[in-house]
Amino acid sequence: MSDTLLLEAHGVAKTFGRVRAVRNVSLRLCEGQSLAIVGESGSGKSTLLSILAGQLKPDVGSIRYLSQEGWVHLEALEERHRRKLARTEWGFVRQHAQATLRPRVSAGGHVGERLMGQGARHYGQIRARAQEWMARVEMDPSRVDHLPSTFSGGMQQRLQLISNLITHPRLVLLDEPTTGLDVSVQARLLDLLRGLQADLGLAMILVTHDLGVARLLADQVMVMLSGEVVEQGLTDQVFDDPQHAYTQQLVASIL
Ligand SMILES: Nc1ncnc2c1ncn2[C@@H]1O[C@H](COP(=O)(O)OP(=O)(O)O)[C@@H](O)[C@H]1O
Ligand SMILES: [Mg+2]
Repeated sequence: MSDTLLLEAHGVAKTFGRVRAVRNVSLRLCEGQSLAIVGESGSGKSTLLSILAGQLKPDVGSIRYLSQEGWVHLEALEERHRRKLARTEWGFVRQHAQATLRPRVSAGGHVGERLMGQGARHYGQIRARAQEWMARVEMDPSRVDHLPSTFSGGMQQRLQLISNLITHPRLVLLDEPTTGLDVSVQARLLDLLRGLQADLGLAMILVTHDLGVARLLADQVMVMLSGEVVEQGLTDQVFDDPQHAYTQQLVASIL
């Protein structure tokens, strides 16, 4: 882990009509660090994540990201530039793999897509890399040509994960990546994710309502309530000695 700053948000806020979804949020993330954003449903986690990915413009505040070409301001980023970063430097993993996997594109097609986005052209090599990554997350590589709908929910989520990680992105954003899966499927996926995180030295921002997931994967935790950050700190510290009444309640509920 380094202490090179990768992403910094300052005073970010977003309102939808009368709903103040995110209010005055600031955060910093260094290379190789992982941050979990936790809080109950509706607390503004996904909105914040979209803002941090440059997908949604905040009403106020700034977000800067250290790209390979230097600092860029995400609140003012052109769509074309954002798409390029999304393809080459970031990963974005959503809760529902079905929403991101296309029904007529094979497993290998999904995994190979980002390699092609980075200029890979040799079909045999792309296919071999896709199979290698499938094996890495305990998917059967002989199913490389199968369509997404033939895989279980947990396997589809693995597919979404490796499609994002195969190009070694600098920053991966995950929105409830294991929510809705069976508990045993979740546990295995979390193990695999933890292994990849360590192997690849990923910087990660993970949104979850599950404190157990945050504890397993994140160095730092940010607790949100009604759009506001009520507590922020090192994961161990927040779990061992929660300061805010809401965090205390959350921590007590998983003991
Ligand atoms: N596109 C949108 N239009 C209107 N309201 C929205 C939109 N996105 C989110 N909200 C509202 O903002 C609040 C925060 O939502 P969200 O960020 O999805 O929370 P979480 O991910 O923590 O469940 C909620 O009250 C939600 O209804
Ligand atoms: Mg959400």
